[in-house]
Amino acid sequence: MRILLTGGCGFIGSAFVRMALSRGHEVTNLDKLTYAGNPANVADVADLPGYRFVHADIADPQAVAGALEGVDVVVNMAAESHVDRSILDPAAFPMTDVVGTAVLLDQARRAGVARFVQVSTDEVYGSIPEGAFRETDPLEPSSPYSASKAGGDLQALAWHRTYGMDVVVTRGSNTYGPRQYPEKLIPLFVTNALDSEPLPVYGDGQQIRDWINVDDHCAGVFAALEHGVAGEVYNVGGGNERTNLEITERILTLTGRDATLIRHVSDRPGHDRRYALATDKLRRLGWAPQVAFPDGLAGTVAWFQANRDWWEPIKSGAYRAYYDAQYGGREVPGS
Ligand code: NAD
Ligand code: DAU
Repeated sequence: MRILLTGGCGFIGSAFVRMALSRGHEVTNLDKLTYAGNPANVADVADLPGYRFVHADIADPQAVAGALEGVDVVVNMAAESHVDRSILDPAAFPMTDVVGTAVLLDQARRAGVARFVQVSTDEVYGSIPEGAFRETDPLEPSSPYSASKAGGDLQALAWHRTYGMDVVVTRGSNTYGPRQYPEKLIPLFVTNALDSEPLPVYGDGQQIRDWINVDDHCAGVFAALEHGVAGEVYNVGGGNERTNLEITERILTLTGRDATLIRHVSDRPGHDRRYALATDKLRRLGWAPQVAFPDGLAGTVAWFQANRDWWEPIKSGAYRAYYDAQYGGREVPGS
């Protein structure tokens, strides 16, 4: 397939680029290179004949139309992706995650692509105290990020209903692995621990996330791309629920640090307590997660230990200003 992938210089997108090329597909990677987009993430494949890079915004119809020439299918991973940034400054989120998705959908429809995969998130469902979300459950997003993703997700389904476009939506759970920007829980805590810096745990740390390895997430998107039914939604979850404190303790052990680094800070506003996904629908397409969490987390920590030259430059400059705005003055006394 000739795939137009958006957001391929980000965390999951760059893993998807590598997987697609290794499976013999051609990839055009369209990326705006926001703070989260890093050309180093695809440096190892940049010179391969099946790879092409287009520096553009998914909300730019002309640039998108040009990139769509000769393309068979679209996988939309481009997004503003961080919940905390959406709380600090929401403006960019609907621009990319809603408007950009609509522009991309419409240009893809006009170009007559065979399939459009919208990469969405389990956060569109909101929080679930017990059991697991099914694809038919209502969307009740809590944050500006998840509300924006829900907007993109629903537009993709509307393009199927209105125009008969071949659209598939995936809703993935919390993803971890190499090259994740160090603003998210696991890469932030791993890199802070390696530098013996405090680990800021929100609230009581008993919130639950369902963690999936990045390659398992990409394989799930591929299963939906290759075998999904048009107009359908597929949950992509690891079946691997952990509290944030358990994640924190595992990271401390793997980095050889101790609990004195833990700092309880004030909770995230609108913080979802628990996510969990039923994944039998995607499993019926032949997909199942392959990476056991202890192995995947150990491999991720080893990658960050071995690649300081990747993350040390990121954690300076504009990142420091973000970090101070996000964490300054939040420590709970006595924690
Ligand atoms: P990321 O923040 O690491 O990367 C996002 C990429 O999109 C960056 O390369 C950025 O430059 C690019 N981008 C942003 N706005 C753009 C625009 N307007 N036009 C073109 N490119 C743009 O994100 P990620 O964690 O790799 O997530 C990828 C996708 O998967 C997102 O759609 C996200 O919502 C979804 N998702 C992520 C997770 C997770 O845990 N990380 C889980 C489920 C779903
Ligand atoms: O569930 C899928 C979603 O997972 C994706 O759609 C998002 O793109 C991705 O960012 C992620 O969202 P979360 O908000 O769940 O991930 P984050 O890594 O920001 O936080 C995970 C949990 O850890 C959450 O309960 C908040 C908590 N946390 C996070 C940070 C950054 C802390 O306790 N301290 C922190 O410093």
